[in-house]
Amino acid sequence: MSSQIVNPAAVPGRFGPYGGRYVPETLMVPLFELERAYELAKADAAFQSEFHGLLKNFAGRPTALQFASRLTAHLGGPRIYLKREDLLHTGAHKINNAIGQGLLGVKMGKPRIVAETGAGQHGVASATIAAHLGLECVVYMGTEDMARQALNVSRMRMLGAQVVGVEAGSRTLKDAINEAMRDWVTNIRTTYYLLGSVLGAHPYPTMVRDFQSVIGREARDQILATERRLPTHLYACVGGGSNAIGLFHAFLQDTSVKMVGIEAGGRGTELGEHAARLGIAQGYTGARPGILQGTYTYVLQNADGQIAATHSISAGLDYPAIGPEHAWLADERRAEYAAISDDAALAAARLLARTEGIIPALESAHAIAGLVDRAPQMTKDDLVILNLSGRGDKDMDTYSRLL
Ligand SMILES: Cc1ncc(COP(=O)(O)O)c(C=O)c1O
Repeated sequence: MSSQIVNPAAVPGRFGPYGGRYVPETLMVPLFELERAYELAKADAAFQSEFHGLLKNFAGRPTALQFASRLTAHLGGPRIYLKREDLLHTGAHKINNAIGQGLLGVKMGKPRIVAETGAGQHGVASATIAAHLGLECVVYMGTEDMARQALNVSRMRMLGAQVVGVEAGSRTLKDAINEAMRDWVTNIRTTYYLLGSVLGAHPYPTMVRDFQSVIGREARDQILATERRLPTHLYACVGGGSNAIGLFHAFLQDTSVKMVGIEAGGRGTELGEHAARLGIAQGYTGARPGILQGTYTYVLQNADGQIAATHSISAGLDYPAIGPEHAWLADERRAEYAAISDDAALAAARLLARTEGIIPALESAHAIAGLVDRAPQMTKDDLVILNLSGRGDKDMDTYSRLL
């Protein structure tokens, strides 16, 4: 294993060749300011204490690490534990990062935050922390996503946020990020951009990972306390990759722990039918390194380098690029990535509901389907932690229509 595993960001903002800061001049100064503010906050005991206080008393951490006994029995292979991020306030892991960045916005003296959202969970988390801290909040959301995640649109509005529909492009997450960035550049003096995943220019991929890495730190302590050994496998779904890296990060140096990220295989392997940026080995076409929204990573693109359309039943996984740290972990073979179809994810959601009494978010259902797929090749000695990144309330329309 490369020694870089020990210190993935040896060059700040770089993960091997990936990451970096590829933005127009107008964004350079704000990004430097943000990096400086984040470095100070990281070392500031008062900031850290406020962050962890809100994680505990507002969001509901620590989350449970639950032994999934009936799912374990049903699959007949590995012992399976679920990291219950779905139990957090607002219903997904997104609140961890929103609290961290919301506090940073206040520290930087910004009265207004802008955010993008796909599945709506990051939008709801941003609207929630904005209300809690007394900040103005504007959330950009593709109109395709507004239709399929209507409940979360209502929640954001109830929390006092302005939700702006984005009609451009495929009307999904990528287009929402473009609009949020445009707003940020225009209103830079008053506005903090609260990005929702490990995407975008430095410092976002590092900062968002740091705010989410509480997931893995807790899970590591919990599994050692319960099972007295490290897990053999970690499973998580990967949109931009924040819940996955949040779980993986505390285990990066434990090379015996296999880390598996599950992407959206959508309806098929043709470009336009999926969002599997690291699925080349499985035959998913169209991904190669390129730059999207400030970072160098694997990007789904056509032969001319135009960003490709993507498809996933799950709005939160429907994005043409993957967080740069995942690109690097894949190249290093420290983590493995596989894609799961829309249909397999739906079936896995029903399976979890009926074996464990938990309706998962469609995004998290991809991770479950990935485990279902591989369980037959695993043994009873294998020990899995699967990150249940969110709950399924927002997806009930899709579930009732398709199941
Ligand atoms: C519940 C849930 N899980 C996972 C994701 C994917 O994001 P990420 O890969 O950053 O964890 C989302 C995105 O909206 C989500 O809502």
